[in-house]
Amino acid sequence: MAELNQEVKEPSFREKHSVSIRLWHWSTFIIIMSSLTTVLLAKTLFNSRSNTPLVQQNLQHNNVTVTNDQARSVAHAFSDKIWQWHIYLGYVLAGLFLFRIIFEFFQPKQQKVIPIIKNALRYLRQPNADKKNGMHYLLVRFTYVSFYCALAVQTCTGLFMVYSDDIEKLQDIRHTVSDIHSVFMWLIITYIVVHISGAVIAEFYKHGKGMISDMINGGE
Ligand code: HEM
Ligand code: HEM
Repeated sequence: MAELNQEVKEPSFREKHSVSIRLWHWSTFIIIMSSLTTVLLAKTLFNSRSNTPLVQQNLQHNNVTVTNDQARSVAHAFSDKIWQWHIYLGYVLAGLFLFRIIFEFFQPKQQKVIPIIKNALRYLRQPNADKKNGMHYLLVRFTYVSFYCALAVQTCTGLFMVYSDDIEKLQDIRHTVSDIHSVFMWLIITYIVVHISGAVIAEFYKHGKGMISDMINGGE
């Protein structure tokens, strides 16, 4: 009750970050960028459809004639290797996400997702609140929550595809799940572009100066 009557300080991006969140943040950054690289390679250089004629032409030069299906299966073997890397990285990403959920329970209260949002809402209800900064802070926090939801969908759909691969009954639904997985990739890419631009732009302003190094050294 006493907490409700206390004046809430203006929320700031110059926050402390626990070792767990920093470790999680930078590991997730590396793994997601690597995962996106595997998708890019699989869809371009290792695309089995565009490599099939290449295999046929190369063998033709050596006077070996193979059918379209035979050439496609060779091209496929290379793209399968890239997808296998994507799956390994996917397991690491799923592990990191699980770690993110578990350590949320052990975070100091002022660094937990829900109390941070509640605090920002309470600040906004105060008559002397800086509404513009308060709303901006809240919006940024909601983008984090949206990202976590997108990551949950991406992890579940990814794992579903791995385990449904050999199950005949699940092949129809696997197509839908794969479409969802592809659409969510674009949501995650949008988040990354907005997030990194936002963090870099904020560094140039007084309210965010030093926030990127805070995410590295933990902040004061
Ligand atoms: C794949 C790329 C990235 C993803 C998915 C990502 C994701 C996230 C998430 C989810 C948070 C919120 C953590 C929380 O408090 O719950 C966060 C915070 C943050 N990120 Fe990233 N990030 C990425 C790359 C980067 C990069 C490259 C930078 C630096 C240029 C950066 C700078 C920051 C900073 C400064 C914060 C703390 C902001 C605050 O306190 O509100 N991020 N990031
Ligand atoms: C940021 C995270 C991720 C992104 C952006 C991403 C993106 C993609 C994309 C675009 C595809 C191709 C879909 C298609 O063309 O049908 C794909 C396939 C796949 N992904 Fe992910 N994915 C991510 C995370 C995961 C995770 C966590 C797993 C779980 C292990 C996973 C497992 C798979 C599997 C099994 C496939 C099918 C590969 C195949 O066709 O052989 N992905 N992913």
